[in-house]
Amino acid sequence: MALQPTTNKRVLSGMRPTGALHLGHYHGVLKNWLELQHSYDCFFFVADWHALTTHYDETTHIAGDTLDMVVDWLAVGILPASSHIFVQSHVPEHAELHLLLSMITPLSWLERVPSYKDQQEKLKGKDLATYGFLGYPLLQSADILIYKAGAVPVGEDQVAHVELTREVARRFNHLYGNEPDFEEKAEAAISKMGKKGARLYRQLRKRYTEQGDAEAIDIARALLEEQQNISLGDKERLFGYLEGFGKIILPEPAALLTKQSKMVGLDGQKMSKSYNNTIGLREDPDSVDKKIRTMPTDPARVRRSDPGDPEKCPVWALHQVYSDDDIKNKVHEGCTTAGIGCLDCKRYIIDAVQAELQPIRERAQQYLTDPGSVQAIIDEGCDAAREVARDTLEDVRKALGLIER
Ligand code: TRP
Ligand code: SF4
Repeated sequence: MALQPTTNKRVLSGMRPTGALHLGHYHGVLKNWLELQHSYDCFFFVADWHALTTHYDETTHIAGDTLDMVVDWLAVGILPASSHIFVQSHVPEHAELHLLLSMITPLSWLERVPSYKDQQEKLKGKDLATYGFLGYPLLQSADILIYKAGAVPVGEDQVAHVELTREVARRFNHLYGNEPDFEEKAEAAISKMGKKGARLYRQLRKRYTEQGDAEAIDIARALLEEQQNISLGDKERLFGYLEGFGKIILPEPAALLTKQSKMVGLDGQKMSKSYNNTIGLREDPDSVDKKIRTMPTDPARVRRSDPGDPEKCPVWALHQVYSDDDIKNKVHEGCTTAGIGCLDCKRYIIDAVQAELQPIRERAQQYLTDPGSVQAIIDEGCDAAREVARDTLEDVRKALGLIER
C-alpha cells in the first residue's frame, strides 16, 4: 500500500501497558520499531487509556506497568534521540480529537470492528458493554490521526482499527475539507510549482478525474512530494484537489504489517503472558536456562537413542528464530538419527537467548537504578508529542468552524 507522501515520514505506534515485556514483544514488535526509528520520525506511546477500556476495575498497576514497559523499550535500544517516547494520558489532546471524531462516527462502524465482539466473548466475566469499550477503536483513530501519521506498525489483529481510522479520516476530510476559496487556493498553489510541474500536475489530475487512471494519481503524488517550493498546507490542498475533494486535513494512515509477528513460546503456542509460556526480557540467566532446559520436545524421544521429528518440537521452532542454516542442518540431522540429545539441541538456543538478553538486561538495570532519567525521557517525548498534537487540533477546530482561541 502506498504511503501518503505528505506524511509518510511519521510513524506512530502504541502498546498497552502490560508491565515488563518478553521475547514475544521483542521479536514480534520491538525489532520492527528498532528498524523504523532510523528512517522515520517515530512516535511510540504507552496506551494507558486503552488499558482502562477493558481493565477499568483493576487499575492499581497501570503506573508501574507503564514505567516497566518504557524501561524495556529503552533497554532493547529504542533511542530517545531518534524516537519520541510518551504516555497517552499525558497528551490530553488525544481525548479532544476522540470527542470531535465521535460526532461523525456512525455507531455501526464501531459495532462491526471485529475486536468488539471477540473481546466481549473472550473476557466473559467482565461487563464490556460500556461506552468506552465500544469507542476504543475510535480512540485509537484519534491516537493516529492527531500525529498525521503516514504509517502505523501493527500486528494482524490491529489492521481493522487502522482501516476504521482511514474511513473516519476520509469522512472528516469529506465533511470539513472544503475551504470556501478552495479552488482558487489550489490553483494558486499549482502555479507555484513552476511551468513544467504545473502542466504535468494538470495533465495527471485530468487523467485521474476523467479516466480514473490510478497510475496517474501515483505519479502526481510523487510529483507533489518532490516539490520544494510549496508549503505543507498547499501540498495538502493539492493532494485533495487531485482526488476531486477539498483539502486533506487528516491524512489516511497505512498499516505497516509486522513481518514476523508470531514468536513461539516455551510450549509451542504463541508466546503470551496468558499462556504462561514466556521468557522475560529481564529474566535472570538461571531462570532462562531452566525454562529452556525443561521445554517439552517431540514426545517420541523418550530415550536418548530414540530418533525424533523436529516438526513436532517447539525447540525446533525456536531454531527458526535463533539458528543459522549450519546449526539447523546439524540439529535436524542429529534429531532424526538420534545423533544428538535434546539437551545438546537446546544448548544452542540457551546460548543464543542468553547472548541476546544480556545487553538488554544490563541496560534495563541502568534505567531501573535511575528512574529520574526514564521520567525525563517520557517528559521530553510528551512535550514533542503535544506540540504536534496541538497543531493538528488547531487545523481540526478551524475546519470544524469552532471559534478560534
Ligand atoms: N490498540 C492497540 C493494542 O491493543 C494499542 C494502540 C492504541 C495502538 N493506540 C494505538 C497501536 C495507535 C497503534 C496505533 O495493541
Ligand atoms: Fe526437539 Fe531438538 Fe530434541 Fe529434536 S533434538 S526433539 S528438535 S529438542
